[in-house]
Amino acid sequence: MAPQDRLDVLILGSGGREHALLKACLRSPRVAKVRVAPGNGGMALEAECLEVDAANPAAVLELVRRTGSTFVIVGPEVPLAAGVVDALESAGIPAYGPLAAGARLESSKAFSKDFMVRHRVPTAASATFNQLAPALAYVRAQPVPVVIKASGLAAGKGVVIATTLAEAEAALHDMMETKVFGPSGDEVVIEEFMQGEEASIMLMVCGEEYLMLPPSQDHKRVGEGDTGLNTGGMGAYAPTTVVTADVERRLREEIIVPTLRGLKADGIDYRGTLYVGIMVTATGPRVVEFNVRFGDPECQVLMPSLETDPVEIMEAIAHGRFRASSVKLRPGSTIIIVLAAGGYPGEIRKGDVITLPAELPVGVDIVHGGTKRLPDGRVVTSGGRVLGVVAHGATLQDAARRAYAVVPQVRFEGAHHRRDIGYRQLKRDGAL
Ligand code: AMP
Ligand code: GLY
Repeated sequence: MAPQDRLDVLILGSGGREHALLKACLRSPRVAKVRVAPGNGGMALEAECLEVDAANPAAVLELVRRTGSTFVIVGPEVPLAAGVVDALESAGIPAYGPLAAGARLESSKAFSKDFMVRHRVPTAASATFNQLAPALAYVRAQPVPVVIKASGLAAGKGVVIATTLAEAEAALHDMMETKVFGPSGDEVVIEEFMQGEEASIMLMVCGEEYLMLPPSQDHKRVGEGDTGLNTGGMGAYAPTTVVTADVERRLREEIIVPTLRGLKADGIDYRGTLYVGIMVTATGPRVVEFNVRFGDPECQVLMPSLETDPVEIMEAIAHGRFRASSVKLRPGSTIIIVLAAGGYPGEIRKGDVITLPAELPVGVDIVHGGTKRLPDGRVVTSGGRVLGVVAHGATLQDAARRAYAVVPQVRFEGAHHRRDIGYRQLKRDGAL
């Protein structure tokens, strides 16, 4: 391949997900150069980090032109919802991630629920409201637990699972009257509570053609045994066999195919990641939510599960010429243990110096999230989910052993992590 054909990549984002995407780019023979905006302390050790307001399409376009970038990978949902890919496409710059019309599957839960109803995708029964009084009247007629969701983007915090009517009413007042999530709570979705085990299904989509990455499982609660407050995700692993062969068949037939057909029927040429959060219920898989980007921390365990170059896949999708049958997956299991800042998910400590192991064993890697590199070269904490230890092994037990052996070698004041990442699968495997 001629060197001029290789890509000059710009990655948008600053979390662990984007660091995993950067590592994939650094390994890729397709990539000549990679820059990140804004990046984090770990990414700064490996690539040039630039400032940009990623929610402003004009600013991103200006940065792309200034740096001569030839391919853009968008990590988070906010730039997608703001139309960054639309602006790049109009300017003839290929990018990985859906257009704003497709990003509505995540940026508006009301749109997403309406989409699922219209295209008969199994999900929780729900009703959408933009007035408090009818929302209260409706919720009073529902059984508990009941789920209350702010329709707009709320950084994963706009969902309340109310176990009493009083809690449900309080959540509606908070969202619709006090506006704790600002305009994201102008519209509220009230949803039936689904019982079951969750899984994260990451699809790399090119119209109706798609690759299903190994099903993974996140751990959203801060405490062991899934207790305590919700977080962005304290750890993940893949694959998970909660998605059995039968669940996978139903997932493809009843959820994925109707969704991709529905997008096409609605005139949306969807290209990018579609994250289908599912609940495996007694009556089959049902959709909890759609996201339009990779999960974080799921991405960190899925990139290493690809034998095929992820950049090659993203490039083919951006150009609308992807064939899923060409992709090879790696055998084995991958796990990530997230180390969080003191206080997370509440008020967090920042600025604590991080000590990292001088060397890592084969198959183990460290992915930064909320870190910052100081001018003197030290790396300090700057966000809630500070970094993650990622390990690959023949089995999940093997991967977990390798990851947990490195965790104590990463040190910063206030650090905390869960010691039970992957416990459901370890039980299924007979390893717990
Ligand atoms: P969401 O932002 O829609 O993914 O919701 C956040 C989390 O709340 C999900 O990952 C689930 O754990 C939980 N959740 C959301 N909706 C439901 C539901 N209808 N039934 C049960 N749990 C839910
Ligand atoms: N790990 C959950 C998410 O990325 O939304």
